Amino acid sequence: MSTPPETESARRDFFRRRVILAPMTVGSNLPFRRLCGELGAEMTVSEMAIAAKVAKGSRNELALLRRHPEEKCFGVQLCGSRPDVVAAAAEIAVERGADFIDLNLGCPIDLVTRRGGGSALLNRSKRVGEIVAAIRRTVDRPLSIKVRTGWSSKKPTALEVAEVAVAEGVDAVVVHGRSRQQRYRRAADWDFIGELRAALPVPVIGNGDIAGPEDLRERRALSGCESVMIARAALIKPWIFGELEQDCSRAVSSQERWSLLTRYVALAIEHFGDDDYGRERVRRFLIWHLDFLRRWVPPRDGSPRYSLQERQPAFEPVDALEDLLSRADANAFESIADRLFELEPVDAALPPIGDAMGRELSADALKRQAAGWG
Ligand SMILES: Cc1cc2nc3c(=O)[nH]c(=O)nc-3n(C[C@H](O)[C@H](O)[C@H](O)COP(=O)(O)O)c2cc1C
Repeated sequence: MSTPPETESARRDFFRRRVILAPMTVGSNLPFRRLCGELGAEMTVSEMAIAAKVAKGSRNELALLRRHPEEKCFGVQLCGSRPDVVAAAAEIAVERGADFIDLNLGCPIDLVTRRGGGSALLNRSKRVGEIVAAIRRTVDRPLSIKVRTGWSSKKPTALEVAEVAVAEGVDAVVVHGRSRQQRYRRAADWDFIGELRAALPVPVIGNGDIAGPEDLRERRALSGCESVMIARAALIKPWIFGELEQDCSRAVSSQERWSLLTRYVALAIEHFGDDDYGRERVRRFLIWHLDFLRRWVPPRDGSPRYSLQERQPAFEPVDALEDLLSRADANAFESIADRLFELEPVDAALPPIGDAMGRELSADALKRQAAGWG
């Protein structure tokens, strides 16, 4: 845990020039955050935690607040609509090691918005001010809000909400450039993000559709945002953080992606446990991740830039493993998981692919392999 910045200007500076792994329900699980950390993500955020459950001491919800000592800078995202409850949850998060708190004002899920939380708060700027003020009175850590443009694109309320929040002590505003009603249908609106950046005295962290260095350059130029947040692209290509850092795309081989999976499994076993229960959970998370990882399209000469918003062209796999990793069916996911857990022998039909697959993949072997993965 880092020493908290002491002044308002230091708290704002804390959010400058950052590339942040976004809060993602399921996706931002602790082992995945560690994997991204090893691949260059310096700032990570938890899965969204429901403040009321945190405040009541729910074990499952408190588990979402857990931070690994190797995480350099870790924030907890909270969702709730009652100022006293969210502030109590923020205090618990800080006691458990959060470097900063993010307040969710964008979650579109009915279950959350019907209770007045998430994007429902985009229509209640006064309440947002009360929540922020309560957190500010309770914890001295940097505090951000994460907004969408508004509930609907016809009525963009993000600026009004952000201005109230800043007046009550918020240090940064993350803007996902879509309304609640748009979901992912349209491209994120970086002009809108730029307008907020120009209007607000705190760092604005742009979010939406960044999938590689060119996207980052273009969105930064368009919006003026120094800091950005990455969600889906991190799930599809967790090595994106290194690419953004070095301003250079990487052609990642199927063997490298396999090593990445073995590393994830090793980190997940360390986190969830090496018993039957732990391994079952690892398997569930792994299969969830495979459905994102398979969306990666290896760059070929002349192929269009990878885009999160467009259907990707079919591609010719260069080897059997690349083919397997690109398959979208549950059988392929199960087969990959089996191989990673060594529940079944490696399919003889697959050509040898170097160190990663032909050998035993016991938990120990996974840990050994993982140690060599950069
Ligand atoms: C699987 C998944 C889970 C998400 N869960 C959350 C969440 O818990 N809290 C949140 O603020 N946003 C959540 N989001 C939204 C992302 O943080 C981000 O705002 C959005 O995906 C746009 O960024 P991108 O274009 O880089 O994906 C989630 C997104 C995905 C794909």
